[in-house]
Amino acid sequence: MFSILGTGKAVPDYVMTNDELSTMVETNDEWIRTRTGIEERRICKSETITELTVKAANAALENAGVAPEELDLIICSTMRGENLTPSQACVIQKEIGASCPAFDVNAACSGFIYALDIAAGYYARKKVKKVLIVSMDNLSNITDWTDRSTCVLFGDGGGAAVLGEGDDLLAINLTAEGNDTVLRIPHGTNSSPFYEHEEEKAVLFMAGNEVYKFAVNAMATQIKKSVEDAGLTLDDVDCVIPHQANIRIINTAAKNLAIPREKFFCNVQHYGNTSSGSVPIALDEAARSGLLKKGDIIAMCAFGGGLTTGSCVIRWSKD
Ligand SMILES: CC(C)(COP(=O)(O)OP(=O)(O)OC[C@H]1O[C@@H](n2cnc3c(N)ncnc32)[C@H](O)[C@@H]1OP(=O)(O)O)[C@@H](O)C(=O)NCCC(=O)NCCS
Repeated sequence: MFSILGTGKAVPDYVMTNDELSTMVETNDEWIRTRTGIEERRICKSETITELTVKAANAALENAGVAPEELDLIICSTMRGENLTPSQACVIQKEIGASCPAFDVNAACSGFIYALDIAAGYYARKKVKKVLIVSMDNLSNITDWTDRSTCVLFGDGGGAAVLGEGDDLLAINLTAEGNDTVLRIPHGTNSSPFYEHEEEKAVLFMAGNEVYKFAVNAMATQIKKSVEDAGLTLDDVDCVIPHQANIRIINTAAKNLAIPREKFFCNVQHYGNTSSGSVPIALDEAARSGLLKKGDIIAMCAFGGGLTTGSCVIRWSKD
């Protein structure tokens, strides 16, 4: 199967604070901090998703010591790349100078784990040696900036990982339950003069409380399942990299699993929810901060639109 050889991340420069948001909608720093843990988020102004995905990809390649020409596959998880076609993965391929198959996957916030699972299939079939995964979303362009119940939650950015042959993937699980009522972002454009349905705005709709309940249950259930599938116990987990949506979801998952809270890596305060970018940004920051030690057992878990979940357990074997 595979090992993670290197990671990278890219976020836009602009830092939007809770106070700035309070000038746009009726909210305040105290409400956002206590209900979500978020203090600030990054928002794209001059950066394009192509610039950010390429930056994250190059950072991961450099960290892994892998050249673009060595790549056998590029997977980009995103809800909305620069174009409908070519895929964002093909755009990344062109920009970094690789020459392998490349495609996108959309599993909303669970995209990074979905991409890892797809890569695992390629390794099982011995079709690849080096794989690049880039997970990036640019939610600010589909946020309803007049809706205080959603616009305070999200931010832009993403991360990347380079995989090589190895045996560090110990378990991985995906789920999906078709649900287009509690979390949905319509396409928003239809240029056909023949289409008879009304066009919807391309903004995010969410029933926050419903998603919250789903998320709290998913985090505990899915982490437990992947740890059991790996033949381990929850005590064996050295670090949890959870989807960074809301600090209360992370705190409740820690409590429900009886895993010490300090084992959960958390950076939601700086980025908000960056969708599929969230887990790989956190993984990269945990790795580069020296938190992850060679031999550590890491559980990762994400949930999001679909409704989807993805969880996995990996051994960290990077020095
Ligand atoms: C969205 C979320 C933070 C709301 O938190 P909550 O504690 O459940 O808050 P509620 O929705 O019950 O709202 C409580 C009150 O705050 C108000 N409120 C909502 N957003 C507000 C804001 N930004 N500022 C101030 N008040 C706000 C509500 O109108 C409500 O007022 P009311 O009691 O007068 O009706 C929470 O449900 C959540 O995190 N859900 C999961 C979202 C998620 O993870 N989505 C991504 C999935 S990938």
